[in-house]
Amino acid sequence: MMKTKILEILKEAGSVISGEELSGQFQVSRVAIWKQIKALQELGYDITTSSKGYSYSADNDFLYPWEFPGRESLIHYFDSLSSTMGKARELARQGAPDQSVVIAQFQEKGRGRMQRKWFSKKGGLYFTLIMRPQIPAVSGFLINFITSTALAETIREHTGLEAMVKWPNDILVGNRKISGMLSEMEAEEDMLTFVNIGIGLNVNNDPAKDEPTATSIAKELGHDIHRRTLLTAFLDRLATKLMNINLDNAVDDWKQYTITIGRQVKIVTVKETTEGKAIDVDDNGALLLELQDGTIKKVIYGDCFHI
Ligand code: BTN
Repeated sequence: MMKTKILEILKEAGSVISGEELSGQFQVSRVAIWKQIKALQELGYDITTSSKGYSYSADNDFLYPWEFPGRESLIHYFDSLSSTMGKARELARQGAPDQSVVIAQFQEKGRGRMQRKWFSKKGGLYFTLIMRPQIPAVSGFLINFITSTALAETIREHTGLEAMVKWPNDILVGNRKISGMLSEMEAEEDMLTFVNIGIGLNVNNDPAKDEPTATSIAKELGHDIHRRTLLTAFLDRLATKLMNINLDNAVDDWKQYTITIGRQVKIVTVKETTEGKAIDVDDNGALLLELQDGTIKKVIYGDCFHI
C-alpha cells in the first residue's frame, strides 16, 4: 500500500523529503504523491508541507489497519459505527478469518449486556474480536473467560493498575468498571463457527459523566496512554493463549484475578433478583451462590453487583 510506504519513508527520514524524491522512489508523478499526502492529512496525519517537501511527526495514536504491522488484513477500522457487534457479525458470516478485529473510534449505539447502552465517546477502545476456535459450542463461553483474563493481564502489565475481574467478565480497577464484554456465538452441528467478543475499554475517555461507577485508565493514572500499543499487547497476549488453548484451565486462570468469589452479591437477571454469597465459579463458568437458607444456586447468566 502506497500510503503505508510513504509514511514509513517519512518516519525513517525524520526530516523533510522532497516530492521529487518520493515520486522517484515510487515511479509516479509528483501530483500522485501530493494526492496521497493530502489523503493522509485528511486521515489526520500530521504531515507538514513546505516548499522543500514533506515532513512528518510520527507520534500518533491512530487505529488504522496499516498501523498494525503483521495484522493489517485482520483489522477493520471505522471512524464511526452503530455498533461494532453488527459489523462483526456481518463479517463473520461472510467468512472473516480467526482473530479479525472490528474497531470503531466512536459508536452511535454501543450495546452493553442486559440490553443496556454502552457509552462510546472518543478516546476509548471499542472493538469486536471475531474468533474461530475449533471447540464444541458448549465450551464457547470459556473463550470469554480466556479473553477477560488476557485483558486483565494486559492492563496490569501495561499500566501497573491492579485490574480485577467481576463475574463474569467485567474488569474493575478499585471497584470501578474500566471494561465490559459482550459476546455472541454461532454454531453448526455442535461445533462453534465463531464467537464474537465485543470489548469496551475506557482508556483516555472519561465515562463517569454517563456512568458514575465507571473509570478509565487515564483517570486512574492521571495521564493519557497510547491506545494502539495497549490494544496490540492485548491482541498478542490473547493470540498466544488461543494458540495453546487449554479449556480445562480457563476458569482457574481467570480466578487469579476475580474479586467476586467470597463476596456477598446480588444477581439480576431478566426474570429475577437473587442475593447470596458467591462461593465459587465452576469449570463451566457458572457462579455458585449460597443463599440465606444454605442452599446453593447455580447462576449461568446475569448481572452481578457486589454488595
Ligand atoms: C457490558 O459491560 O455491558 C458490555 C459492554 C460491551 C461494550 C462493547 S464496545 C464494543 C462492542 N460493541 C458494542 O456495541 N458493545 C461492545
